[in-house]
Amino acid sequence: MTADEPELDQLLAPVGRLLAEASLLLKRTWQAGASVRHKGPADLVTDADLAVQRFLVPSLVGLLPGSSALAEEDGQVPAEPTAPCWVIDPVDGTSNLVHGVRYVAISVALAVGGQPVLAWVQDVFGDHLYTAGRGRGAWRDGTRIHCSARTSLADAMVACGTPYEKERADLVFAPLARVWLACHGLRMLGAAALELAEVAAGQLDAFFEASLNPWDFAAGWLLVSESGGVISDLKGAPLSLAAGSVLGASAGLHRELLTILADAPPLPGREAGQRG
Ligand code: IPD
Ligand code: CA
Ligand code: CA
Repeated sequence: MTADEPELDQLLAPVGRLLAEASLLLKRTWQAGASVRHKGPADLVTDADLAVQRFLVPSLVGLLPGSSALAEEDGQVPAEPTAPCWVIDPVDGTSNLVHGVRYVAISVALAVGGQPVLAWVQDVFGDHLYTAGRGRGAWRDGTRIHCSARTSLADAMVACGTPYEKERADLVFAPLARVWLACHGLRMLGAAALELAEVAAGQLDAFFEASLNPWDFAAGWLLVSESGGVISDLKGAPLSLAAGSVLGASAGLHRELLTILADAPPLPGREAGQRG
């Protein structure tokens, strides 16, 4: 956050309160017997995703006059890309929710000029709120967090995500196999935003996925970079809010992981802007 954006800091607490409400709404809607529909062969949406998005979009835009929203379940594209934009994943980990795996998040970032300046990841069942402000730092439940200080991949716990598209298992799993051989443990937890938040807090040492949408990683991007970590795409290039690959890691592990992942042939994945 720059010196000319100090008022944005004032949004951290009210948005945190909105996310606490959204988390209750998500649980209530799901427990009341939400219906589940397929957006693609393995890509699901539930009434809980829609209810949380319907609550968050007007509430967030109402907090910042002139802002717009880019939210997963209707794929709205902001009318004015340079205006502040809320990047929202109403339920990250929808498949986990549907299967009763309690690893689910709500992810919100405020982007200005295509870069996240504020971030919130609500861990719905763990009941933790991760927040970050550009140039200010990152916190879990108000306590400052830092990426792990690990420098040896052999000791590291690494998480990764796999695409919903299942065309080329060999291309998807080849790089995962190389990382698995090099690290202490590899996990697929199923909620990219929360996995990046846990990298920021040092529980996980790294997270990578070959094809993500902006709402999956916008908040996690800022959390990792404000916690002393390094985040880039899988080729080491700086992130942008366009859909793409993501590697977030402790500073001592990012380069080694890039080298291991760089040997990979291209993965099948979503085209930029495609929803999922
Ligand atoms: C998905 C999750 C998953 C990742 C997928 C994402 P959704 O988000 O973050 O871990 O592997 O690529 O699309 O669909 O649950 O919001
Ligand atoms: Ca997501
Ligand atoms: Ca989602």
